[in-house]
Amino acid sequence: MNNPQLDRDGNLKHLLSIEGLPKRILNQILDTAESFVGVAEREVKKVPLLRGKTVCNLFFENSTRTRTTFEIAAKRLSADVISLNVSTSSQSKGETILDTVDNLIAMHADMFVVRHAQSGAAHLIAKHVPPHIHVVNAGDGRHSHPTQGLLDVFTIRKYKPDLHNLRIAVVGDILHSRVARSEIHALTTLGVPEIRVIAPKTLLPTQVEKLGVHVFHDMTQGLKDVDVVMMLRLQNERMSGAMLPSSQEYFKTYGLTQEKLKLAKPDAIVMHPGPMNRGVEIDSTVADGKQSVILPQVTYGIAIRMAVMAILAGGSPAGASA
Ligand code: CP
Repeated sequence: MNNPQLDRDGNLKHLLSIEGLPKRILNQILDTAESFVGVAEREVKKVPLLRGKTVCNLFFENSTRTRTTFEIAAKRLSADVISLNVSTSSQSKGETILDTVDNLIAMHADMFVVRHAQSGAAHLIAKHVPPHIHVVNAGDGRHSHPTQGLLDVFTIRKYKPDLHNLRIAVVGDILHSRVARSEIHALTTLGVPEIRVIAPKTLLPTQVEKLGVHVFHDMTQGLKDVDVVMMLRLQNERMSGAMLPSSQEYFKTYGLTQEKLKLAKPDAIVMHPGPMNRGVEIDSTVADGKQSVILPQVTYGIAIRMAVMAILAGGSPAGASA
């Protein structure tokens, strides 16, 4: 079957979703990111792999972490970076997304990083652009957030290197979460043997088991002896009606507290893709506690995004030491 993310030789052409990407490509991105982690510790935090290239950040939906780390990553690769301010762009005058893209191509853009509230927006742009231009999905609706899935796996690998021996729980609003979908695809492709999802029935997609996960509705059972706890935000902006009694009630049942965390292995790590809602899905004592790796996730996001852009542009990991 034709994979729109790969070229004829099986190399990464666009990064649109984790689903459908072979293990070989996921490992290539993770291993390349490894070689970029040290760049941040240099006096001059730059490598020349994207010198002369222009990266356009098109964020049609709000973002703190993804937008900023893509911008930092592109700058560390020595690219010229344009972050279009969509609220002050001609989108507000009715210009279509593809007309915006065509105009940026006319300005010799080489790569688009796209976030959009509509699922499929990055695919639409990838189908539209000429072959020398690359598209990276920075989150589309509830569909996919591939670089978040990759940075999460990278973080897990840093703290728990043997992926083939892990029990991981993803907790919360799985139904509306593009992060959960990307993460589950990445973890199953890389051979994690046990992935649990813990959520009320109203926040789980139908037939979620088909993703290869074990379903729990109860934190006491679901968190037992896990190595990794990944908390998710209630995505209220994607809910069409009241799916829960109240956020206080939700916190009582599904919020991660120190007490509930004791059910996991003593050395379990706690993750969250952000933004967090403290006191809704996670207690502050856990978010800021010893087992939390929430801020390292953000830091590793830079190396992952550098890796993705360098691979798309044809840069080799060896270039990282240039
Ligand atoms: N994790 C994540 O996508 O955060 P932002 O929405 O701030 O980019």
